[in-house]
Amino acid sequence: MDKPRIFLTRRLPEQSMKRLQQQADLVHVDLDRDPTRQELLDGVRDVDGLLCLLTNKVDAALLDAGSRLKVVSNYAVGFNNIDVPAATERNIAVTNTPGVLTDCTADMAWALLMAAARRVVEGDHLVRGGQWTGWEPLQLLGQEVSGATIGFVGMGRIAKATAKRAAAFEMRLLYWNRTRLAVDEEKQLGLEYREFDDLFADCDFVSIHVALTEATTHLVGAKQFEQMKESAILINTARGPVVDERALVRALQQQQIGGAGLDVFEHEPTVADELRSMAQVVLAPHLGSATIATREKMGSIAVDNCLAGCRGDDPPQRIN
Ligand code: DGY
Repeated sequence: MDKPRIFLTRRLPEQSMKRLQQQADLVHVDLDRDPTRQELLDGVRDVDGLLCLLTNKVDAALLDAGSRLKVVSNYAVGFNNIDVPAATERNIAVTNTPGVLTDCTADMAWALLMAAARRVVEGDHLVRGGQWTGWEPLQLLGQEVSGATIGFVGMGRIAKATAKRAAAFEMRLLYWNRTRLAVDEEKQLGLEYREFDDLFADCDFVSIHVALTEATTHLVGAKQFEQMKESAILINTARGPVVDERALVRALQQQQIGGAGLDVFEHEPTVADELRSMAQVVLAPHLGSATIATREKMGSIAVDNCLAGCRGDDPPQRIN
């Protein structure tokens, strides 16, 4: 059988690149930047598979441009960049990379929570800037993490992994999820279920873990910030648009909440100037899955998915 033709939008980790180069005829533009819309439209024209990123918009027009496309393999667990119903209508498989980035993303949520609560970045700037004059009783006092209350918006794989970290800090774990977990699992994880409107008021930390859909866009906004404690810290490692960013800026400016740790933003890679200037906000450039091992595992799954889809087999992580 001829090698499948695959359009790859960005360079993947080494092992995944090697497999793709050996097992496919690779089509690409410049692997060190995202292709433009026109380059994407041209790129998919005569290929069996598209291996793309969450930054590549895959809509009906793009799928139509790829008249031979059998599979769209997303190098991510999230797939809000892809019009999945449009792909299904065209009998094109859509795949993602679940499971392998769970712990790594939970670690990132935890890193942001700890950094925001304990003012690590402010401390770093103070020391680095040569302005530290010695130990002080009232310098950079933060929020206690151990024993605090955390609320989870969503309770999928990554939320559960984050909850395990929180449990190790003897925190009280509240959660809301579209579907309540079985009581046994709640017990096992030490979780207390709350209705959405009752989740926020008691939390010292709120961590977002829902996929981005129409229903979750701006799920957390002004109303929720009004309910939160003045000291509460919001953590988002899921998707930026789940939080109404203008409302978040206002809540931080008006000290309705105490701070935030953000790995994702509403209009990536643009980050609101107000957020960039606030000391009580810790910012990261969408690093949730960014470890060497995790990115390699994501690559391996994305390549498996893409090659299987091109062969006409059912890809291991098919979404549709
Ligand atoms: C994902 O996989 O959806 C993350 O946002 C990036 O790894």
